[in-house]
Amino acid sequence: NWTTTNVVDEQVALIREQVGDKRAICGLSGGVDSAVAAALVQRAIGDRLTCVYVDHGLMRKGETEQVEKDFVAATGVKLVVVDAEERFLTALKGVSDPEQKRKIIGREFIRVFEQAQADIIADEGPAVEFLVQGTLYPDVVESGGGTGTANIKSHHNVGGLPEDLEFQLVEPLRKLFKDEVRMVGQELGLPAEIVQRQPFPGPGLGIRIVGEVTKERLDLLREADAIAREELTLAGLDAEIWQCPVVLLADVRSVGVQGDGRTYGHPIVLRPVSSEDAMTADWSRLPYEVLAKISTRITNEVKDVNRVVLDCTSKPPGTIEWE
Ligand code: XMP
Repeated sequence: NWTTTNVVDEQVALIREQVGDKRAICGLSGGVDSAVAAALVQRAIGDRLTCVYVDHGLMRKGETEQVEKDFVAATGVKLVVVDAEERFLTALKGVSDPEQKRKIIGREFIRVFEQAQADIIADEGPAVEFLVQGTLYPDVVESGGGTGTANIKSHHNVGGLPEDLEFQLVEPLRKLFKDEVRMVGQELGLPAEIVQRQPFPGPGLGIRIVGEVTKERLDLLREADAIAREELTLAGLDAEIWQCPVVLLADVRSVGVQGDGRTYGHPIVLRPVSSEDAMTADWSRLPYEVLAKISTRITNEVKDVNRVVLDCTSKPPGTIEWE
């Protein structure tokens, strides 16, 4: 009989058996899956697990702090945070092409992660033989099945890791669906902000800026995104929405009138969607009052933004993300 307590007990026992007295490493992405996988392994082997979080500077407002503070407080996990913002921004300088951005972010991620991994292995302690991954049941099925849509965009999973054959994989979520993973996370005492998190792409806000990625643009998008998230939560719409990418059209300008006069600013796109599995999606019919509130706040509070537009395209033909 399936209860979250049973799943936790069973997985903790299996992980102990698999890892023995060795050490393990887990990459945290800030997402639900890697967080729950890490929390399970932490419960099983304590500080013989080291988590690595690469801060690529492309996270949303407050997300890095959530991992650094709340996740660590809830689990007691041993965490290494690598601040790699400058490195990623330098590598992304002058790049506007979406696939190019994804490749660069993926490549830099692997390099930074491998360095962190090497440092951990060099530490005193038992041999590091295991790598923890938050693979879910649908991932297992999909990678075996080959859906034919996988190549539309190169889905580099920044929560995931380089194929490194020196390690054996620990995948405690392999039999679970997303909603079950959330329940297990709750059972393990993880903060609601992490357990209920909507999907967020590995390359982060880097693929939500149409145009070159710069620190200034990221800060601006972070503000707009935080406002949209705040208002959607206040309106009680989180459960209805699968996710709501907020996109900055950095290469587009339009004329507006704000405060003392004419502005020539950028549009922000709201992309709220409802979906079962992200393979297909419908645009969410958000209440006009909520849209109005988000629009007013973003144009008032975010510098250089003078227009908010709504993406009312389903998937297909549009993908959920803009890049
Ligand atoms: P698209 O844009 O292809 O997105 O309709 C489908 C779902 O996947 C997420 N997404 C990603 N997740 N790494 C990820 O881990 C990625 O590179 C990536 N690209 C898109 C997207 O947010 C949506 O939930």
